[in-house]
Amino acid sequence: MIIAIDGPAASGKGTLARRLAGHLKLPHLDTGLLYRATARALIEHGHDLADRAAAVSAARSLALTNFDETLLRGREMAEAASVVAAIPEVRAALIDMQRSFARRPGGAVLDGRDIGTVICPEADCKIFVTASDEARATRRALELRGRGEKVDYAAVVEDIRKRDERDSSRSTAPLKPATDAVMLDTTKLDVEGAFRAALAIVETVPEQQLTSQTIAS
Ligand code: CDP
Ligand code: CDP
Repeated sequence: MIIAIDGPAASGKGTLARRLAGHLKLPHLDTGLLYRATARALIEHGHDLADRAAAVSAARSLALTNFDETLLRGREMAEAASVVAAIPEVRAALIDMQRSFARRPGGAVLDGRDIGTVICPEADCKIFVTASDEARATRRALELRGRGEKVDYAAVVEDIRKRDERDSSRSTAPLKPATDAVMLDTTKLDVEGAFRAALAIVETVPEQQLTSQTIAS
């Protein structure tokens, strides 16, 4: 069973995907980390984020297992990730690794921006997670402060706005719901409520479909 979770910044897709994967005993891939790690590798080696050749080479050298999330979750890396994610060749370099992860026997849960539209258009279940700008900025500000970053609310609102705009307007794999995605607005839901609502969506996937997919894989 492949579950695709997409949505804008800080909508809660990563937390939800992790929770669903734990519950369903499926592996989980947070694909945002791939773009964050690509950006970090570029910065570490002193390259400009607009250096396409260096960005593609950094993306190709990524290994799925070696992410130090503490170095990738900050504000700076989120912004830089969105810049490199707009380079079509960087996206192309990361497709195979995401698809092989998704197509392992038994299935997987992936979250990002283009899982339901580009990486796994055949996913059994697609959820597009949203929340109001205010809810998302409040969540992200809390999370960043919890990590020790000094951020004010207005700056986080601006970060999210700018990043969503860039992610939605790029020519390759823009942020948008797949036509067959189920929309899940989590503005008024806590983490547990969002999980329950998502599980109800997953449970609507016909059992027959899940069994034949699992056998075929
Ligand atoms: O992956 P994405 O950027 O969409 O969001 P996240 O990192 O999963 O969630 C951002 C923050 O919102 C985390 O600190 C969550 O605990 C919190 N949160 C949530 O994920 N879902 C809710 N319904 C409410 C809060
Ligand atoms: O957690 P949050 O939504 O703030 O960010 P993320 O999921 O870690 O993604 C960081 C950036 O990577 C996004 O703003 C996108 O530009 C890019 N990204 C993407 O283009 N495609 C994906 N499948 C995942 C992330």
